[in-house]
Amino acid sequence: MLITFCGYEEDLKIVNMRLIKTDSPRESAECLELGRGVLWRHIRQQEAVAELGMDALAFAEVPTFMDHAMERVAAILDVPYVKVLEFLPAENSFLLRAGRGWQNATVGETRISADKTVQTGYTLASGAVMVEDFGVEQRFTAPELLIKHGVVSGISVPIYSINKPYGVLGAHTDTVRRFTEYDISFLQSIANVIASVIDRKRVEATLQNSEVRLRKLAVHVEAIKEQERARIAREIHDELGQALTGLNMDVHWLAGRLAKDQTGLSDKVRSMGALIDCTIKTVQHISSELRPSVLDDLGLGAAILRVVDQFINRTGIRCDVDIAMDDAGVGHKGATAVFRIIQEALTNVTRHAQASNVSIQVKEDSGRLHVLVKDNGIGLTETDIGNANAIGLMGMKERALEIGGSLVIESGTENGTLVRLDVPLISDKA
Ligand SMILES: Nc1ncnc2c1ncn2[C@@H]1O[C@H](COP(=O)(O)OP(=O)(O)OP(=O)(O)O)[C@@H](O)[C@H]1O
Ligand SMILES: [Mg+2]
Repeated sequence: MLITFCGYEEDLKIVNMRLIKTDSPRESAECLELGRGVLWRHIRQQEAVAELGMDALAFAEVPTFMDHAMERVAAILDVPYVKVLEFLPAENSFLLRAGRGWQNATVGETRISADKTVQTGYTLASGAVMVEDFGVEQRFTAPELLIKHGVVSGISVPIYSINKPYGVLGAHTDTVRRFTEYDISFLQSIANVIASVIDRKRVEATLQNSEVRLRKLAVHVEAIKEQERARIAREIHDELGQALTGLNMDVHWLAGRLAKDQTGLSDKVRSMGALIDCTIKTVQHISSELRPSVLDDLGLGAAILRVVDQFINRTGIRCDVDIAMDDAGVGHKGATAVFRIIQEALTNVTRHAQASNVSIQVKEDSGRLHVLVKDNGIGLTETDIGNANAIGLMGMKERALEIGGSLVIESGTENGTLVRLDVPLISDKA
């Protein structure tokens, strides 16, 4: 039987996995049959690699993906035993991470030697390995797990994760089987897909970890800022305020002791008193900006009204306020967070919005506090919101998260900007 091969028609047979010429039509027919089988297996293997590549993106956890991959490898290679081993350098051993067919082994517990004289260790050190019969194998011994299950033949390949070996993937049979180079490439491709899933999960975990740490840091920084502000406000108010009040009293005392004809001196003392009065007001203003005492003394509602008053006086922008809440429900920490968020939202309106109107709504509903700050200005883009330099917006979100709430910024160029804050109310005053 003539086989068309690369455009030539020849009688071919397979010797040692290579095609060579033959004069026997029977050998040639066998070769064609064999070739069809090999080609068919190879196509199925390629399909399986492609499918697993897609599945790699869908599976959320590494162990479930490995189980799925083990099933596919066992089916495609038609082998009873498949395993993924993770290399544990500190113990110089492998841990069974996933497997199929093993009766005397437990995933997550069974350990296998990583010695280079054993097939597993040899694979990790030297690369893909094919064994036709462990009984006559000279390069290494079979690990105990394979001996216990009467494994005779097998292939194994290393799994390389970023910068370091992860472990070994193996497929085995308990009857003699001659695997092919195609089988090895198939298994190596699967090992690479497994490695990519492991790497992706590691990167995701690292990212998640650094996000959590960054968030904690941001919360910590905000808390320290708040404490520092309160401390400086107290110091300014108590130390500077009292000293100025004392000075003022001295100046009044001095004024009372001046003779009527010392008009030059008494004018000077009076203007000193006026300057001291003015400085006392400035000090009070600075300290209340740093930590509005009204927040502690009269509560969140009054503090919001105060900040809105200051906003209107400073900017001339119209501001409608609608507050329907019970101060006690928010707690001390919550009140500070909500107050600072509204303060930052109003500062942003002053600095960026070019708005003529702002409305603030603070309402309690179903155990939650809903806050809306809406302006009719130029709005902002998604890029503005996601910008790494938008520390003010980020701080607002972090403050909301810190008290178990959420903050969303909505904007369209025609509708201005809407800051929507949602905070759970608490029963005890934290
Ligand atoms: N109400 C708003 N209207 C229009 N643009 C806004 C508004 N609020 C914020 N932005 C835009 O979003 C950007 C980020 O705001 P963010 O508060 O994070 O920073 P900032 O106000 O520029 O500086 P700061 O760190 O002092 O707050 C602003 O630079 C501005 O471009
Ligand atoms: Mg800002």
